[in-house]
Amino acid sequence: MKVACLTGGGDCPGLNAVIRGLVRTIHNAGGQTIGFLEGWRGAIEGNFVELDPMRTDEILPVGGTILGSSRTNPYKDPGLAEEVVKTFKKLDLDCLVAIGGDDTLGVASKLYSDFNLPTIGCPKTIDNDLSSTDFTFGFDTCLNTVQDAVDKLRTTAESHRRVMVVEVMGRHAGWITCFAGIACSADAILVPEEEVNLDTVCQRLMDRRAAGKTYGIVMVSEGAKLKGDQFITKDAEVDDFGHVSLGGIGKRVAKQIEEKTGIETRDVTLGHLQRGGSPSAYDRVLGTRLGIHAARLANKGEFGKMVALRGLHIVAVPLEEAVGTMRTLYPEFMDEAREFLI
Ligand code: F6P
Repeated sequence: MKVACLTGGGDCPGLNAVIRGLVRTIHNAGGQTIGFLEGWRGAIEGNFVELDPMRTDEILPVGGTILGSSRTNPYKDPGLAEEVVKTFKKLDLDCLVAIGGDDTLGVASKLYSDFNLPTIGCPKTIDNDLSSTDFTFGFDTCLNTVQDAVDKLRTTAESHRRVMVVEVMGRHAGWITCFAGIACSADAILVPEEEVNLDTVCQRLMDRRAAGKTYGIVMVSEGAKLKGDQFITKDAEVDDFGHVSLGGIGKRVAKQIEEKTGIETRDVTLGHLQRGGSPSAYDRVLGTRLGIHAARLANKGEFGKMVALRGLHIVAVPLEEAVGTMRTLYPEFMDEAREFLI
C-alpha cells in the first residue's frame, strides 16, 4: 500500500498529529506514505517528501503542518485535476488522504466521483463549521488561544475602565465566537447567525457599568453583520475557491459603542494568532485518532469516505455527503450563553 497525504486550506494546530497517526498506522501495516507539499499544488506538480515514523515522531506538539498548505484549487483551471490523476499514476499510489476543510475535501470528493481516484478525507478547521463531524481539531487550541488573549485584555481593560471589542475568526459561522465568549464570560457575543443589535449591547454595557462592572468585553465574529448591513471584507480579492477575506467589523463595533455609550472603547483583531501554536491535548488526541482511522480505511480499500467524530467514536461517512454544507452555530449554544447576556 502506497499512500499520499496532503494538507490544504488554512492551517491549524493538530495537522501534524494526523500526519503522524496516518504514517505510523500505514507503516505498521507494511505500507509506505508520502506527503505532497503545499496542498493540491504539490499533487498537481508532483512535489512531495517521503514520510516514515522516524521523520514524523517528533511532530506531535508542533503547530501548523510540516507539509505546508495552500488554497490551490485543481478545479479552478481546466486540465489541473487531470494533472493530479497523472501524478497519482506516475507515483504508483494506491490512495490519497486529503486533510482539509470544505474546499480541500470538496476537491477530494470530486476527484473520487470524476476519476474514481481513491481518495479519503480528514476534516480540519479552527472554524468547526464542517457538517459531518461533531468537532474539528484545531478548534479547541484556537479557543484556548482566544481565552489566553482575553484574560490579558481583561486586566488592561479594567485598569482603563474600557470596553474591549475582540474580533475573532470563523468565517460565516459563530462557533469560535460563542464558545470563546462563554469561556471568557464576555458581556456580548456577536455571531453571524444573529443580526447584531448594537443598541441592546450598548444598553447592557451601560447597565453593567451602572451596577459596578468597570470594564466590558465584546466578542464579535469576523463574519457578523450589523443590523441592516452586510458582512465586512478586507478587500475585494477572492481566493481560488471564491472566498473573500473577512475583517473590520471589530473596529466598526468599537466606534459605535464609544459613540453611543460614551465609554472609551478599543478593538483588537486576534487574526492568525488563532491558527498558531502547539495543539492542545484534545487536538493532539483527536488528530491522532483521525490519522489512524484514515489509514485503516485506506488499508481496507474504503475510498470516497471521510473520517469523522460522532460522539466519542471515529466513523466513516461518504465524502460527498460531508462537503458542500457549512455548519453554522447551533442556536442552543447562544441560547445557553444568553443566561449571562441579559
Ligand atoms: O478557515 C480558517 C480561517 O482561519 C478563517 O477563520 C479565516 O476567515 C480564514 O481562514 C483566513 O484565511 P487566510 O489565512 O487566507 O487569511
